[in-house]
Amino acid sequence: MRVPESLIPLVDQGIITEVIRPLMSGKEAEVYLVRSEGEIRVAKIYKAPERRSFKHRAAYTEGRKVRNSRTQRAVDKRSRFGREMEEQAWRAAEVQAIERLHAAGVRVPEPYAFVDGVLVMELITGPDGGPAPRLADLNPTRREARSLFFTLLQETQKMLCAGLVHGDLSDFNVLIAADGPVIIDLPQAVDTAQNAHAGKLLIRDIDNLTSFLGRYDSKLRRTRYGQEMWELYERGDLTPSTKLTGKVARRGDSADIDAILAEIQASERAEVARREALGLPPPRRARAPKVSASPPPKPLDGARPTKSKGERRRKRRGEPTPPQPPSPALDPTFDDLDALLIEDDDA
Ligand SMILES: Nc1ncnc2c1ncn2[C@@H]1O[C@H](COP(=O)(O)OP(=O)(O)OP(=O)(O)O)[C@@H](O)[C@H]1O
Ligand SMILES: [Mg+2]
Repeated sequence: MRVPESLIPLVDQGIITEVIRPLMSGKEAEVYLVRSEGEIRVAKIYKAPERRSFKHRAAYTEGRKVRNSRTQRAVDKRSRFGREMEEQAWRAAEVQAIERLHAAGVRVPEPYAFVDGVLVMELITGPDGGPAPRLADLNPTRREARSLFFTLLQETQKMLCAGLVHGDLSDFNVLIAADGPVIIDLPQAVDTAQNAHAGKLLIRDIDNLTSFLGRYDSKLRRTRYGQEMWELYERGDLTPSTKLTGKVARRGDSADIDAILAEIQASERAEVARREALGLPPPRRARAPKVSASPPPKPLDGARPTKSKGERRRKRRGEPTPPQPPSPALDPTFDDLDALLIEDDDA
């Protein structure tokens, strides 16, 4: 086929010996199947900034360093030179993140070359030996969904321990290789040491996985691995082998849970829209998650709180109220999760 203009320098330098065919054109990039060093690999060409639709880029690039203060001033002023520098940095960020994660043993494609803003990397292949399908293209059983979830959770944990959060993790950015899931698409990855949004992005990433795989295994929807992982990380207590429970300490009111549910629902709506745009069938509907952690409703103004029979009797006799057991530190919704998961496996 005709060699796309962006690949000409790589062909001239002998990095690519053949351009086989286009593989995919995403929101942000065009991906080609190429031959390089005798192997079939992929070349990712980033689209020009005006042809892309990645939202709120500034939230991801916060804290990223550019080479010197003159360049930084140009970037801040949004001059042409500044925008060009910023674009180069965005493209380079993906290869830097992939290299860092590959070194940390995270399941990402192996990077081979980064030349003129084009990334040449390992082709992830599926069970049939062809390019791997995305997680979004799968219709897993409950058991498969659970296994994929925990593998991806472990990869996210390793990533966080290496100081990075993906920032756009979803069923569209996970490929299913013959030996398990592989995480792709990392130009927006954020460094936890530099970006104040890292915690929120991590929680959103894990919520995305929970929401997609929770359609196939509804028990996953009761878990809060994102919050738990981030809290442990912030306290300096997270290692790649830390065992997580999916439970988080209750914060005293139900507002957090409402916010989390609203965020999960918003990401579900975004996914429906995205599938529609790609001509994919709508995702399987899941039952709404049960939320039983809300405190009992407060009595209306002026209304007396209801007392139990025992309390009324004690009051009549003038006896003191016995000490109450401490309220559980953990959200009771999750107390029975392990039991349920085991029960389920036995079924
Ligand atoms: N290493 C790889 N091996 C196999 N296929 C790949 C690889 N990298 C990318 N792809 C394919 O190309 C598609 C687009 O890649 P990627 O997600 O990196 O770019 P993007 O433009 O940001 O995509 P999108 O906007 O759809 O998220 C992927 O969904 C996948 O199908
Ligand atoms: Mg992608």
